[in-house]
Amino acid sequence: MKFRDHWVNASVTALENISPSIKLFQITPKNGRASWTPGSNIRIRVRVEDRSEIRTYSLIDTGVEDEHYRIAVRLIEDGQGGSRYMWSLNENDLIEISQPHNHFELSRYSTSYTLVAGGVGITPLVSMAKALSNSDKPVRLIYGVRTRSEAAFGDLLKTWLGERLELSVGDEDGPLDIASIVNSVDKNGELYVCGPIGMLEAISKLWRKSERPLGLLRYETFAASGHYPSQEFMVEIPRLNKLVRVPAHQSMLAALQEAGVELMSDCKRGECGLCVVDVVSTTEPVDHRDVFLSAHQKAENRKLCACVSRSAGGTVTIDTAYRGL
Ligand code: FES
Repeated sequence: MKFRDHWVNASVTALENISPSIKLFQITPKNGRASWTPGSNIRIRVRVEDRSEIRTYSLIDTGVEDEHYRIAVRLIEDGQGGSRYMWSLNENDLIEISQPHNHFELSRYSTSYTLVAGGVGITPLVSMAKALSNSDKPVRLIYGVRTRSEAAFGDLLKTWLGERLELSVGDEDGPLDIASIVNSVDKNGELYVCGPIGMLEAISKLWRKSERPLGLLRYETFAASGHYPSQEFMVEIPRLNKLVRVPAHQSMLAALQEAGVELMSDCKRGECGLCVVDVVSTTEPVDHRDVFLSAHQKAENRKLCACVSRSAGGTVTIDTAYRGL
């Protein structure tokens, strides 16, 4: 592990449905809330079937200063189980949470800020929008949703940003024009993106093509988004003489660790690359859901991030870097 979480007891103290599929959770740590900055997240221990797993959720600044954390969770019925657990919680239920971490920090020195959210990817950007609402720099938030009813936090964002909020509703406006968004960013401006993997890959490709500094593109993804539906598959590790079943609702990393395979991990969001394994062969396409590997590496299919990526069925044969101490 890259760092250790400090776990604290907390309780769910308020719940609110803010769209048909997104619920806002108010979480109150037992011994007081730590300070945090826009882009931060906390980890929560969830129960998935009989297992304890960890999920990461962005902290949301709704403009209320108090002793609570707030997160928003989209229910994904065919996901890996974390959102179903969160949605099963009631007020006063006890949970375990980590201290806040920030791997998606908002810089203070950009010449302009362009924020792009796809669906529930709005969650880390809400706090950034709040922080930038009084900025004297150009700020633009492009918020893509499929239907108008899915635009969680839309009213709040409008209050803070006014015309600087551009809501794009797929049903009414068609898909986001990613190319024009990337081209509109000034040469020293920063672009912050959170959304499904396809959106991140498209933006990243255009950004590289435009030859802008890579450090000015900052992004975060959510682990559930892939190119294929999650389904069961097998992982073979000849060196360890193991054949491991990965259920549709479990990550490959969790299934391997449960089977006693030593793997390093940190972010569990496909961002840090610590969980990368070597792919020896695969019978079905690999569904790369990370933002760590390059497009070229994904096309080569010789590595995959076990925390989020998976096989679209069949069997994938791998080797792991971990050789013990
Ligand atoms: S643990 Fe970070 S990419 Fe998998």
